[in-house]
Amino acid sequence: MSPASRSLSGVFTPPGDKSISHRVGLFSLLAGGSCRVENYSPCADCQSTLGAVTALGGRLERRGQALVLTGAQGRLNPRAEVDCGNSGTTFRLLMGLLAGRPGEYRLDGDESLRRRPMERVAAPLRLMGAGVETTEGRPPVTIRGAALRGIDYDLPVASAQLKSSLLLAGLQAVGPTTLREPAPSRDHSERLLVSCGAALTRGGGWVRVEPSSLTLPATLRVPGDASSAAFFLCAAAITPGSRVAAEGVLLNPTRVGFLTVLERMGARLTVNQQGTEPEEWGRVEAQYSLELTATAIAAEEVPLLVDEVPILALVATQAQGVTVFHGVEELRIKETDRLAAITSQLGAMGARLWTEGDRLLVQGPTPLTVPERLESFGDHRIAMTLRLALGLAGGDCPISDEGCAAISYPGFATDLWKLSA
Ligand code: S3P
Repeated sequence: MSPASRSLSGVFTPPGDKSISHRVGLFSLLAGGSCRVENYSPCADCQSTLGAVTALGGRLERRGQALVLTGAQGRLNPRAEVDCGNSGTTFRLLMGLLAGRPGEYRLDGDESLRRRPMERVAAPLRLMGAGVETTEGRPPVTIRGAALRGIDYDLPVASAQLKSSLLLAGLQAVGPTTLREPAPSRDHSERLLVSCGAALTRGGGWVRVEPSSLTLPATLRVPGDASSAAFFLCAAAITPGSRVAAEGVLLNPTRVGFLTVLERMGARLTVNQQGTEPEEWGRVEAQYSLELTATAIAAEEVPLLVDEVPILALVATQAQGVTVFHGVEELRIKETDRLAAITSQLGAMGARLWTEGDRLLVQGPTPLTVPERLESFGDHRIAMTLRLALGLAGGDCPISDEGCAAISYPGFATDLWKLSA
């Protein structure tokens, strides 16, 4: 902390949840019916999904603030090139969705997406009978859709993108597809597929789908993005004099692992659930918490907070003791190597953090200082974490490509400005 820390106070409303927005957009390609979606995420990644929907022959229309999706019922253009931009979720979910459609599809993305591994999705899709060609394991990827057969498969990693991709393929296959996860990951696909009428069952650690036809729910209001809300809630917990409230936030337990960790560290939080449709949502308030203590985050908890590790690492720089994040190797293959990015950039601000094998360790509390410049590596979550770290340090310096925050949170700078006023 620094005497010049800029406190945060007030109420903010995060944009619509990115994961749910992607799913309703993409599922409309397989489903029938039509859905009026309110609060669809305005973020760049979810616009990539809408671009993919239209490139594949899906139909969407803006009506005022809402988005109306008309189900394509699987009748897609037989050939298409799809630019997924920076969005790994668009890319991986489409791989499974297209694997069962008759046609030939080429999926590509920006420079960062072109570095991300796709074999983990391609390999089980080939087992199901799809033609999938990657470029040395990465995008661009060509999918030749085929008649698929269901599989019984142990996912090698707890990845919701992988799980969702295989569920979408499984819906189009002959016979059931059963997936087992090493630990629970976000379950938006399972929930939305059930509301679309899919034959989906699940129990502890497994999920099964059978070939099903889907019908979109008539309306869906997307709750606020939990991962976007996390930035200001976490920053408020460590910035003296702060008190912020996030309205309308998604509270699905597979997404709010960061709240459990903040509470364990001694943060002053108030969570009020206000609704359950289409998933749990409500209001979360966080206040500056003088005495935070370090904690251990178990590997099984990581999928429940995987996108919040950078901002939680910033919180840990202000907590007493060594916080250990176990099993965070997945962070190396996100939009950038997030472990390298946060250790180098928070390190440049005077924080003490390092990696040991698949663990990230943060020693606190340390006052943060302002360097000459910081590097986001074009990663939205790194850019936002560093901007909040500068607020805590009470200073300013350029952050490279800071506008990349719009990949998930286009209103980040405006909300920061409002909460800092
Ligand atoms: C997502 C799953 C996570 C997460 C990503 C969104 C999703 O990725 O990091 O931001 O919407 O399914 P993994 O499945 O690779 O963990």
